[in-house]
Amino acid sequence: MKQVEVQIPKIFAPLLTSDYRNKFFYGGRAGGKSYAFADSLLLLGRQKRLFIACLREIQNSMKDSVYKLLCDRISFYGLDDYAVSDSKIENKITGSRFVFKGLRNQDSQKIKSLEGVDIAWIEEAQAITRKSWEILEPTIRKDGSQIWISMNREEENDPLWVLVAANPDARTLVVKVNYYDNPFCPEEIRLQAEKCKVSSPEDYEHIWLGEPRRQGNTKLISATDVRRAFQQQLPMPSSPLIIGVDVARFGDDKTVFCFRRGRSCFRIESFSGLDVVEVANQATFFIRENQPKRMFVDIGGVGAGVYDILKDRGLGEVVKAVNFGERALLSERYANRRAEMWDNLHDWLISEPQVALFYDEDLLTDLCCVNKKYDRRGRLLLEEKDEIKKRLGRSPDKADALALTFAERVFDNLALQMYRPKQLLWEDVFNSYNQGDDKW
Ligand SMILES: Nc1ncnc2c1ncn2[C@@H]1O[C@H](COP(=O)(O)OP(=O)(O)O)[C@@H](O)[C@H]1O
Ligand SMILES: [Mg+2]
Repeated sequence: MKQVEVQIPKIFAPLLTSDYRNKFFYGGRAGGKSYAFADSLLLLGRQKRLFIACLREIQNSMKDSVYKLLCDRISFYGLDDYAVSDSKIENKITGSRFVFKGLRNQDSQKIKSLEGVDIAWIEEAQAITRKSWEILEPTIRKDGSQIWISMNREEENDPLWVLVAANPDARTLVVKVNYYDNPFCPEEIRLQAEKCKVSSPEDYEHIWLGEPRRQGNTKLISATDVRRAFQQQLPMPSSPLIIGVDVARFGDDKTVFCFRRGRSCFRIESFSGLDVVEVANQATFFIRENQPKRMFVDIGGVGAGVYDILKDRGLGEVVKAVNFGERALLSERYANRRAEMWDNLHDWLISEPQVALFYDEDLLTDLCCVNKKYDRRGRLLLEEKDEIKKRLGRSPDKADALALTFAERVFDNLALQMYRPKQLLWEDVFNSYNQGDDKW
């Protein structure tokens, strides 16, 4: 087997050298947790036969998992003793194998397949529910088995924090690790962190030092509400499809398309480095393919060019321009359109029955980072995009795209039902008028 020197920062040494049952590493962004866990597991898996489960709360596809990171590290080190397939990674010499699972979809039957696990890695552990932990913990039952946990704390009472780390027992190691402990932290990331320290100490503590968010009432949207919507699974509502498009303003922003039908936001697609014509082409493709009732495009900045092209292509019936800065529809309550759309989003998120939100950790960060402000007339005014960008190191593009789907209320109608290539059901027609479950 090829000898390689794996680069694991000192602070993570206990992963390899100690035999705690639970190894709990927490802290802010870029502490090196994911890399160190991945490298350590790859190394151990070459030394002896191990069954390793990479777990998270929600895994809709392999894309959500640490599979890609492991593959990248395998090729970085040139570990040709590992064989990679679509859903598994195996070591051809020791027989070690890695599997990838979302805990939300496990019940007590399915989870039995994990009983032989030697090491379980729980990534993004801030998202783990009490129920998932209560099913998992007794399942990892093999003698000498370990549970490795990596977490960026979100709120004071994140379940796994409370259950495992807050009062650690003798078999639990708890280590805090931040970007300044990571000798491989890229300089650019370090600069973003330092900038945030000055411009917004409170966000710095949360994003970069891994402290839980203080639950003041300055944030518009709480992580608990977002997590609850992530958990919800809904059959696809028959409500009209609305797509929100947040067009990148600068090279480092992303253009995001967000798809929502009534109570379900079920798809988010983001693209980097597209020019105006390419964004318009992508938008045209989504319109042809998915036949939305409306597509709301943010026309602040370069989005205006996208809108013009789409209108020129005869799509003006579907595509509507929205300018975040313009006067709100309810101008006595909101200082601008952006505040109005975000507040509508918030109302939707906390409405009953529970709505469903496409799972995406960036979306959660975006949604929960925006501070509320009020103007002199007492109208809701959100924090400026530029301020958010300074702290976050990027724009909250995914949340803005979602907010755009709330630009106006969109009702279905009979004509649309007939235009969709499916059988017309009277039930649908009834539902389209009786929007009881879908205010939005
Ligand atoms: N062993 C390593 N070798 C090279 N770069 C690394 C290594 N560990 C971390 N990094 C760099 O640090 C960044 C942050 O590490 P990551 O593991 O993603 O942190 P966390 O999971 O704590 O947010 C990575 O994107 C990578 O650029
Ligand atoms: Mg990570």
